[in-house]
Amino acid sequence: MNPVVIYVEEISKYVDAEVTIRGWLHNKRSSGKIQFIQLRDGTGIIQAVVSKAAVGDEIFGQLEGLTQESSLTVTGKAHADKRSPGGYELDVATVQIVQIAEPYPITPKEHGVAFLMKHRHLWLRSQRQHAILRIRHEIIRACRDFFDQRGYTLLDTPILTPNACEGTSSLFETPYFDEKAYLSQSGQLYNEATAAAFGKVYTFGPTFRAEKSKTRRHLMEFWMIEPEIAYATLEDIMSLSESLITCIVQRVLESRRTELLSLERDVSKLEAVQSPFPRMTYDEAVLALQARGLPAQVGNDFGGDEETVLSSTYEKPILIHRYPTSVKAFYMQPDPDQSDRVLCVDVLAPEGYGEIIGGGQRIHDLDLLCRRLQQHNLPIEAFQWYVDLRRYGSVPHAGFGMGIERVVAWICKLDHVRETIPFPRMLYRLYP
Ligand code: 4AD
Ligand code: MG
Repeated sequence: MNPVVIYVEEISKYVDAEVTIRGWLHNKRSSGKIQFIQLRDGTGIIQAVVSKAAVGDEIFGQLEGLTQESSLTVTGKAHADKRSPGGYELDVATVQIVQIAEPYPITPKEHGVAFLMKHRHLWLRSQRQHAILRIRHEIIRACRDFFDQRGYTLLDTPILTPNACEGTSSLFETPYFDEKAYLSQSGQLYNEATAAAFGKVYTFGPTFRAEKSKTRRHLMEFWMIEPEIAYATLEDIMSLSESLITCIVQRVLESRRTELLSLERDVSKLEAVQSPFPRMTYDEAVLALQARGLPAQVGNDFGGDEETVLSSTYEKPILIHRYPTSVKAFYMQPDPDQSDRVLCVDVLAPEGYGEIIGGGQRIHDLDLLCRRLQQHNLPIEAFQWYVDLRRYGSVPHAGFGMGIERVVAWICKLDHVRETIPFPRMLYRLYP
């Protein structure tokens, strides 16, 4: 019977069977007649024990000189071994070397960030990046499940667009035959159209901001998940954002605990993320900041410093609602109780991470929307389709956007968003 080809993460199902694993050399050590090979296959790492007696002098000799990241397949018998890092080992019968790697630039010694970023295509193979990006995948999967199970329809919104969503200062412009196009900053405006067609919808895709920001929270290209719901209010989407975040955190704790622990994440901090979350108005937040000695002023938006302070105050994410009209986008619905405040919410992640969600209720009145477009100097022609939504059965509606990378940075407790996406696009980096 031919040995079955398996992945490392399936090994527990194949104890005492002959299996083949195909991977790359992560590390190795030798004790004369035996070599211990750490084989990495993308799902995990397993120790393969190779004896000269089993594979013969020639192969054994080749293995001795084998470089880090050389590719090879090994076949042997799997058995449980408590001393082994993953709990299993492979007693190797045959080895096939696929390619001998050139000297690998990323060695077990410490490298600087600039060097690692330049070698991002290889850095992805490290255990740390592996753990982070598997958590990213789990977070995305949890988001999709969350909305799918609640009856939302996924409707993808365009990346090439004729108009701005979040202000004209951070638009990436690109020629579009005889016109100009802009890379989408958010799928929201299109979500508003699909919500009127499908009731409750979400979009999940890359979004772009040409922000000259070089902070630990900013990327030029990031992925956003955005729900939009017809007939929903600010209150509805505040609850929805709370449920979404608790669901994501629970899922990662259940399914990616090993990865969290390998990143030395204090999981008790994540276990504390349970409903209800604290809520405060923008005005209350300003007072809280002033009480802590920060020069916050009513009327100004919060910057990174203010967000860090506010989000270090509580163990849970915090919902800050009703910001001044002047600091928010053109489409925000005014608060009926305070005409210079809008029905919006920002969710700040704890432990100093700051904003992960922004959203709110949208203007549904035709005249008000037209006035706002004018006040913001936005080209009304490009927005005609959007204005139309207020002409044909306009209803109150609301939604939000959550940046995946910021959530990954918080859940993994990373210093910077650059490690949360396989190939980050940053102010001074487009390579690789
Ligand atoms: O607060 P923002 O700008 O809101 C919107 O774009 C709304 N139109 C979304 C909606 O209501 N459908 O962005 C939403 C989220 C932020 O809270 C943050 O998590 C993330 O997107 N984000 C960024 N993430 C990384 N790098 C950047 N430069 C980001 N800008 C925003
Ligand atoms: Mg925002």
